[in-house]
Amino acid sequence: MRDANLHTIYLKDYTAPEYLIHNVALNFVLDEEKTRVTSRLTMSRNPASQSRDQSLTLAGENLILIRINLNDGNDLTEEQYQLTHDSLIINEVPQQQNFILIIENLINPKANTALEGLYLSNSMLCTQCEAEGFRKITYFLDRPDVMAKFTTTLVADKNRYPVLLSNGNKVDRGELPGNLHWVTWEDPFNKPCYLFALVAGRLECLEDSFTTLSGRRISLQIFVEKQDIDKCGHAMQSLKNAMRWDEKVYGREYDLDLYMIVAVSHFNMGAMENKGLNVFNTKFVLARPDTATDSDYEHIEGVIGHEYFHNWTGNRITCRDWFQLSLKEGFTVFRDQEFTGDRTSKAVKRIEDVNMLRTRQFAEDAGPLAHPVRPESYIEINNFYTLTVYEKGAEVVRMIHTLLGAEGFRKGSDLYFERHDGQAVTCDDFIKAMEDANAADLKQFRRWYSQAGTPVVSVQQHYDQATKTLALTLRQSCPPTPGQAVKEPLHIPVRIGLLNSDGSIASCLMQGTNQATEEVILPLTQSEQSFTFENLPASKPILSILRGFSAPVKLVLERSLEELAFLLSYDRDTFNRWEAGQQLAGQIISGLIADVQQGRELQVNPVFIKAFKQVLEQAWDDLSYFSLLLSLPSETYLAEQMQFIDVEAIHKARECVALTLAEQLQAQFKTLYLANNREESGQFDAGAIGRRRIKNTCLGYLGKLENKEIQEWATTAQNTAKNMTDQIAALAVIVNNPHPARQSCLDNFYRQWQAEALVIDKWFALQASSPMPDTFAKVLSLMKHPAFDLKNPNRVRALIGAFSQANPLHFHAANGQGYQFLADQIIALNSLNPQVASRMVNALTSWRRYDKARQELMTAQLKRIISTEAISGDVYEVASKSLL
Ligand code: TRP
Ligand code: ZN
Repeated sequence: MRDANLHTIYLKDYTAPEYLIHNVALNFVLDEEKTRVTSRLTMSRNPASQSRDQSLTLAGENLILIRINLNDGNDLTEEQYQLTHDSLIINEVPQQQNFILIIENLINPKANTALEGLYLSNSMLCTQCEAEGFRKITYFLDRPDVMAKFTTTLVADKNRYPVLLSNGNKVDRGELPGNLHWVTWEDPFNKPCYLFALVAGRLECLEDSFTTLSGRRISLQIFVEKQDIDKCGHAMQSLKNAMRWDEKVYGREYDLDLYMIVAVSHFNMGAMENKGLNVFNTKFVLARPDTATDSDYEHIEGVIGHEYFHNWTGNRITCRDWFQLSLKEGFTVFRDQEFTGDRTSKAVKRIEDVNMLRTRQFAEDAGPLAHPVRPESYIEINNFYTLTVYEKGAEVVRMIHTLLGAEGFRKGSDLYFERHDGQAVTCDDFIKAMEDANAADLKQFRRWYSQAGTPVVSVQQHYDQATKTLALTLRQSCPPTPGQAVKEPLHIPVRIGLLNSDGSIASCLMQGTNQATEEVILPLTQSEQSFTFENLPASKPILSILRGFSAPVKLVLERSLEELAFLLSYDRDTFNRWEAGQQLAGQIISGLIADVQQGRELQVNPVFIKAFKQVLEQAWDDLSYFSLLLSLPSETYLAEQMQFIDVEAIHKARECVALTLAEQLQAQFKTLYLANNREESGQFDAGAIGRRRIKNTCLGYLGKLENKEIQEWATTAQNTAKNMTDQIAALAVIVNNPHPARQSCLDNFYRQWQAEALVIDKWFALQASSPMPDTFAKVLSLMKHPAFDLKNPNRVRALIGAFSQANPLHFHAANGQGYQFLADQIIALNSLNPQVASRMVNALTSWRRYDKARQELMTAQLKRIISTEAISGDVYEVASKSLL
């Protein structure tokens, strides 16, 4: 077990910084193994700090110190400072006036496999500083409430590093003897050091420009490695779309004359919003129709938007401390979700987001690592870039939008930007701006930020025939979470509508109001609350509740299969219509799970087949939405609904439903497949995307039939597809079923795409998530494949991540081989890249949800991980908290 470096940091302990940094002048002499950093800081005591301490403590990790100089005197001697493994303490600095501190140190980018600080990716040098990576570059006050103006000079070999980039504007350049050149960048905006970036390499650039509403011309540049220059067009278009959207929807313009994006192959997350110089995972930049799927295209636009939107929500206004992370992330995710909804289909985007929230964030909120949107403590902040902070945080912002309306929300965001521009603020400052701009009271609403766990809302209906009124009684509760045994009621907006029994709209007239409307938002604030509707038709109306998923809660409401089928046909709300189908399928599959467990024969209820058939035979405009209606809830979502997870029964039951549908509706699936199977090179337009999506959904069902004709359809599609969406969908059908040409198709695919790393990631992920019986053996042999690389996070996620997080059936194999395999990989990754290792632990943390035998196997592996020598704080925190 480890002991060092395991401090818990608490929100309640926040104090203002003792010193301020006004200006930072950095000089880098770049080299793969020996980069020399000179930092010249203009500093002063912070008048807002209570402390009297005359010493100055700077954070620093893995640095080789060369010299320290204070106010141009002699370099400090060893008696004048102390070095620890993570800090530099200067015994005494001037207290009354500004002072200049110069520090020189060395760093080794090539040895940096953690990909935090300055590191090497292929032959390019790049940085990642959020959250606390700047301290791996030089000694600094590495906290977001210390904001400074940065000037950065990069010196490097002209041939190896012809392109030298940093934040802001390029202000000067020159040449030096020894084939060196230098460039100076100046960022006019104050920023915290986590937004610092530099990139150096032999890069190609795609250039374009954007003219802002006020008429300023912004130069846009995307830098990639040479072989990828033909895959940047979509990212560039996405950037322009995002810039226009933020002007239109939030009134926000870009503020520098230059916006740069660099794509790198080795990256711990999706992308990073460094001021004026975003650094992206190649996965969220590169796309060509033959290499990227429609969903890749959508994610690229979403992530480009996300990082662009951070310029206002994150950079111009940043976080006071890391507990406030959702201030920028929750808000920015909400912004990117709305952007994507506007660009594609609002209905489809909402369903996809809720699906993700309910399968993954709900699981987090129900497990041992549950924490509030604004956490109260952490050991390693990198572990708190979570689904709760990002996705639930976005839902919380969305609820504010719902409560205030679009106009009220815009007034609130305008005030927020005006009031806090240039500051490092808190989640509370954000809510306060929303309140002040609308004269609203969000006091109780604030609990969404401090209370963890997914609330449960149960609904009881009482229709009174005599008075033609409907009384709804809503009850809310929230299960205890670690450190929070007792929960207070939340302010929950519940959007509802009513339908007559012929499917027409019944208007809602709430008691005490005098206007009937098509929809109402019920303000649920108490643990139990009733709402009555009057003037209703002579028979009980059908309730459509939590429309658009108006709050991140679990709804408990008994519904008959017939009522669900009715809502699937008639609900006007696109989310609830889909949701009715999911619940219908969910009830059927749950029944079958019980049948599997009790050894009964499996038979799918004809009510479900009939409802499904009705959807299938209808004509739909939005084919993507249509495909979602035809999709069964995933095994992971079904698992999340169960108290005790039986992976095998879930798989069997769900497969039985899919196969029955395929058998009984074979003709309809075939017709639909053929009608939409055009030869398409893969344009990113809604019509073509919809056609591909519905066609491949049909092929997915048909593939289960083990029928020669269909196997040939799949082989032909895999061999001849002109776009990656169709090719990978066909390959999935081949890999996920007992298809005779499985291995040869995989081999062909590999040969065709071996030069495209992102496509090869798909090839790994597909095999790792197959339900076929030889998958585990396959995974073991893929670990030895020459293209596998433990140092590349995308590859690790494609193979180890997909197997442990997208293949419940095999990962949870009863003999524990999946658990042992994952633990082995986590231990190996721990010393290379703690952030990636820590994310992989996730698959083991929900051990309490499985049977006794599996619980023991999983906890044994968690204990083995914790007892590893030199375990990182990252991995230790997640593994140890999951065992508490
Ligand atoms: N702030 C980034 C975003 O959400 C994500 C991020 C945080 C990140 N830490 C990181 C990216 C570390 C890469 C590595 O947009
Ligand atoms: Zn972000």
